[in-house]
Amino acid sequence: MPKRKKIGLVGAGNIGGELAILAARRELGDVVLLDIPDKEDFAKGKALDMMQACALDGRDANIVGTSDYAQLAGADVVIVTAGVPRKPGMSRDDLLSINLKIIRSVAENIGKHAPDALVIVISNPLDAMVYEMKKITGFPRERVLGMAGALDSARFECFLAEAAGASVKDVSALVLGGHGDTMVPCLSYTTIKGIPVTKLLPQADLDAMVKRTAMGGGEIVKLMGTSAYYAPAAGAISMAESYLKGQRRTVACAAYLQGEYGYEDIYMGVPIVIGAGGMEKVVEIELSGAEKAMLETSAKHVKELLAAAAKL
Ligand code: NAI
Ligand code: 2OP
Repeated sequence: MPKRKKIGLVGAGNIGGELAILAARRELGDVVLLDIPDKEDFAKGKALDMMQACALDGRDANIVGTSDYAQLAGADVVIVTAGVPRKPGMSRDDLLSINLKIIRSVAENIGKHAPDALVIVISNPLDAMVYEMKKITGFPRERVLGMAGALDSARFECFLAEAAGASVKDVSALVLGGHGDTMVPCLSYTTIKGIPVTKLLPQADLDAMVKRTAMGGGEIVKLMGTSAYYAPAAGAISMAESYLKGQRRTVACAAYLQGEYGYEDIYMGVPIVIGAGGMEKVVEIELSGAEKAMLETSAKHVKELLAAAAKL
């Protein structure tokens, strides 16, 4: 009988809970939902509630809540949401010093207890957190990815489908760069059933949607008082699924660059192929002059964030 896959979730808050139920409902494997000792009972309670929801769905789920990293032993994938989310008025970067301390201890524990896992980081500020994860675990770049581009691309796809009166199934958007206000929605690779959106929608409408996408996280924080969690979890689960099932999906992810797009030693959103080998390929596409300039601004911002993190 093939061994059941194991998915570790570090952080049992809003995104962690949604990740757990999605993984269970898709029967991706057994789930370990881990939080700090003070929240162990909360994680255990959430796990039980979700197991019972899966019983109603007729899904064979095994979800455990814990604060013990030893339970991550043998994990195939670990998704990290440990940290604090934004409150209204805060930028993602405002979370740097508090979440950096958290990510460092989480990374040490993952390195020790789940040395063969693919790690997907979600905690903000994303590009700095995933950089730190790779540095501390020492895992190869193929096994340390950041989730942001999947979410940012999905946001852009939603706005486009609504504006064009089209099915979101036919919309395919690509958002690159750092996960912040400087992200780069690439209009030249954004289509509705293969038709470039620039041929379907007025430029002024596209410009407004590009702006709304870049501010998409903040729009939700302002409405809810905390950050989004359904779509971020869906983004990370699609990445995990592509790895666990060797699907080779092409997804915009924060990946460690070694010369691709002209950048070195930086995590930034680019299209990659995720298969059984983790990140199997960075897909290099030609960008327009304007997109290259936007990517440069975004990279500059990520580098400033990494420099600030290095001093903490
Ligand atoms: P949340 O506050 O609901 O959950 C975070 C959980 O992490 C809490 O339960 C907390 O106890 C736990 N935690 C704190 N320190 C820990 C540690 N040392 N070990 C294990 N667990 C620990 O927050 P939410 O909404 O789940 O967001 C999580 C993170 O994801 C935030 O940093 C947020 O800004 C970020 N985020 C990133 C997105 C992206 O696109 N990359 C999108 C949305 C949110
Ligand atoms: C988001 O984009 C705040 O990063 C978070 O929803």
